[in-house]
Amino acid sequence: MTVRVPAKVNLLLQVGPRRADGYHDLTTVYQAVSLYDEVTATPAASVTVAVAGDDVAAVPTGPDNLAHRAAELLARRAGAPGGVALEITKGIPVAGGMAGGSADAAAALVACEALWGTGCDRAQLTALAGELGSDVPFLLHGGTALGTGRGEVLTDVLARGTYHWVVALAEGGLSTPAVYAAFDDIGAKTGPGPEAVLAALRAGSATELAAALSNDLQPAALSLRPSLGRVLDAGAEIGALAGIVSGSGPTVVFLARDARHATGLAAELAGLGVARAVRRAYGPVPGARIVEPEA
Ligand code: C5P
Repeated sequence: MTVRVPAKVNLLLQVGPRRADGYHDLTTVYQAVSLYDEVTATPAASVTVAVAGDDVAAVPTGPDNLAHRAAELLARRAGAPGGVALEITKGIPVAGGMAGGSADAAAALVACEALWGTGCDRAQLTALAGELGSDVPFLLHGGTALGTGRGEVLTDVLARGTYHWVVALAEGGLSTPAVYAAFDDIGAKTGPGPEAVLAALRAGSATELAAALSNDLQPAALSLRPSLGRVLDAGAEIGALAGIVSGSGPTVVFLARDARHATGLAAELAGLGVARAVRRAYGPVPGARIVEPEA
C-alpha cells in the first residue's frame, strides 16, 4: 500500500501568544504544494520505519518518527494487530518548514488504515492526525484551508487558480520549537489576519496573493539563520512576485506569475548559488492519497 503526500506552505501564519500548554494560537492559511513524500506500508510483525532520500540522516527511524507514532496510535485506537513496515521516500525537504514529518504521519495513517482495514472514517483519521501534530490534519486534507487552534482546526476556503512556486532549499534544517522560542524571545509582533489572503484566493490572483503573503515566524527564522536574508533578497532582485520563509523555515518560497515565470526564476536562482537546491512546485494539490498500482 503506497500513499503519496504533499508538502505545505503557509500563505499566512499569524502567531498569537504562547498558551498554557506551550503551543501558540495560530491563524494560518495552508496550501498543499507539489513536493511529495511516498510512504509504503507492508505487513510486518512490529512497526519499523526506513527512510530514503536527500538529507535523511537527520530523520529518526525509531519510535520518535512521527509516522511510527501514527501507526501505533491508529493500531491502539482501532484495536488492530498493528505490525507494519513503513518505507518513506523523502521528496519534501527535511526539517524545512514544509511539514515533511507531519506529511509522513498523515500518509502512514492512510496507508495503515487501508492495510489493516480498520474501518476508521475520514473524521476519525483527522482526529487522530490532530493528536499527532498541528499540521497533520492539513496534510490529510490537502488543497487550501484556513487553520486555527494550534493549526489543527481546519475550515475550507474558496480558492481559485493554480499558483506557481520556486522553492529554495537551505543547507540543514531549523527546529520548529526553537523558532517558536525565538519568536517569544524577540517579542515579535503579530501580523495581519487572513482577510487579504482569502480575498486574493477568491479572486485567483497571484499578484494580489503576493502582496498579502505574511509569516510572523519569519523574523524568528531570520534571527536563527541570517543567511536567509540573502535568499529573500536574491528572489526580489530576479523579479519574483514575493518571497517568504515557509512556516518555521529555513526553506524560502517565491511566488511566480505563472508556470513559465517560475521556470525562469528557478534557473536564475539556481545560478546565483544562494540555495542548496532549487525546486519548482505548484499548488493547491490534494492531500495524502493511495497511489493506485499501474494496470
Ligand atoms: O504540533 P507539532 O508537533 O508539529 O509542533 C511542533 C512544535 O512547534 C511544538 O512542540 C511547539 O514548540 C511549536 N508549536 C507551537 N504552536 C503551534 C504549533 C507548534 O508553539 N501552534
